Amino acid sequence: MATDTKAVMEKIVALCKRRGFIFQSSEIYGGIAGFWDYGPLGTELKRNIKDAWWNDMVQNPPIGPRGKEFQMVGVDCSIIMNPKVWEASGHVGGFSDPMVDCKECKARFRADQFSRLVIRQINSVPKTIDDLRSHLEDVEPKADILAEDHFSDPQEYTKQICSALRIKKPTFEALTISGYAAGGSGSLGILTSDKNEQFSYRQVPVLLDSTSKYRCPRCNGELTEPRQFNLMFQTYVGALQDASCIAYLRPETAQGIFANFKNVMDSSRVRIPFGIAQIGKSFRNEINPRNYTFRSREFEQMEIEFFCTPEEHCTDDDVTPMEWYEFWRDVRIKWYESLNIKSDKLRPRQQEGDELAHYSKACTDIEYLFPFSDETQELEGVAHRGCYDLSQHGKHAKGKEDGFSIYDDERKAKYVPHVIEPSAGADRFTLATICEAYTVDESRPSPEFMRFHPRLAPIKAAVFPLVAKDGMPEIAEPIFREIKKLYPAQFDSKQSIGKRYARMDEAGTPYCFTIDGQTKEDNTITVRDRDTGEQTRISKESVGNFLREKLSI
Ligand code: GAP
Repeated sequence: MATDTKAVMEKIVALCKRRGFIFQSSEIYGGIAGFWDYGPLGTELKRNIKDAWWNDMVQNPPIGPRGKEFQMVGVDCSIIMNPKVWEASGHVGGFSDPMVDCKECKARFRADQFSRLVIRQINSVPKTIDDLRSHLEDVEPKADILAEDHFSDPQEYTKQICSALRIKKPTFEALTISGYAAGGSGSLGILTSDKNEQFSYRQVPVLLDSTSKYRCPRCNGELTEPRQFNLMFQTYVGALQDASCIAYLRPETAQGIFANFKNVMDSSRVRIPFGIAQIGKSFRNEINPRNYTFRSREFEQMEIEFFCTPEEHCTDDDVTPMEWYEFWRDVRIKWYESLNIKSDKLRPRQQEGDELAHYSKACTDIEYLFPFSDETQELEGVAHRGCYDLSQHGKHAKGKEDGFSIYDDERKAKYVPHVIEPSAGADRFTLATICEAYTVDESRPSPEFMRFHPRLAPIKAAVFPLVAKDGMPEIAEPIFREIKKLYPAQFDSKQSIGKRYARMDEAGTPYCFTIDGQTKEDNTITVRDRDTGEQTRISKESVGNFLREKLSI
């Protein structure tokens, strides 16, 4: 990571603590890794994000492809569900990461992030195991690199590989490594550029020996073999603490939606195509919680399961699942852009064939360039999940292949609906909003200020009497009370006006109203725009309308 971006992240974290956006959970006891608390400003910010999502996706959803309107409804399910839910969904069996433990210092690492890569360059990829073994013995290693570096510092990692293979001027984005996790042989695809910026690509056959003895990177101790580590938090329900009482904190909100699919259909007269949405806490015992709130152990999700007719039952007039998938992908990208996430930092990344789950037909990760990394990171996944989830619950709950099929009167067909799932993280988007809003301008009263979209700003307006005398507070107080009925607002009469503007700039308050000497003469007050710093005068009676107009975007 470049040092300047790291420094930016440190400044953002400091501002978040100083101004009450985000605190470390249980900080007075030394904190607890992977858990965070929102302070007064952060709580409002995250609430505005969830409200904007609920309003724009559920209460007032966009119009579908070819002008098709559809219904969206919400649910609010319990965090602990019958453990059979997680067996059906595949989380009990498969929601795990391979881990290795240090036998000496007890540190734990993800095995795929911690393997040693011994590279031997060879002339051709070996065909048989014996051939491979003879290369392992005969060819001296060119590089011996901890794969962990690939994750913490991909540029450095690439540099090491390239220098071992004497490759000049590699562009690190283009370096691909195939077969490295499995060990054995593979090839490095390397893009090099000459001084005229002409790129050339070549494949170098290499032996990737991840079978050599690993040692702990902290204490050089011996490591255990990789073991699967389930990410679900386990608890017990009831008085007994035995295997029959085991339950889990949900690792995603989605399964509450699937488990209630039939209840919702029977109770709310929704018809395919329609969506069910849920906002709520999810819990994952992440091995490596990191990058501030980005990867936490307790976090909030904003998920939609959108149910539609499978392609084989679609009439010419119907929107197919693939069209709904493209629709939701585009809607979700535009939603982020509409809330000030700049498009050059937002990257939709379509998952490649081998990344996709076996049941998934397509998936796009909507990624954002956070300052803590040189690579974009996932904000949301939009997945075409076929009929997998409803079929799984049909099989497990009802013992039938077509347990959650519906009879579609219009199409005179029985089918299990297909699902498009836009699944977003409320905390990840809160963090992206904070990073995007953070602006440095040394010429201002506060050299750091937060350019939040007005819809998301925790405080919408502030009211200042220029001085706490000459009748100014008496004029300011009723104006403040009027605004407070409409929007979250603050009153501040302490310290110089410059310091008060600075405080509001750091909180990201879009408008500050000041009552000054002229107010008594002509009934006008100044309004200062956070982003431009410009001040104009408006009549004190028009404050409500001014804010309504400015904030209704
Ligand atoms: N139901 C699908 C599902 O849960 P996911 O990609 O595992 O998919 C969806 O999670 C979103 O939830 C992610 O894009 C991210 O925004 C958020 N998320 C997942 N794990 C997280 C974590 N450990 N900390 C914070 N947010 C997380």
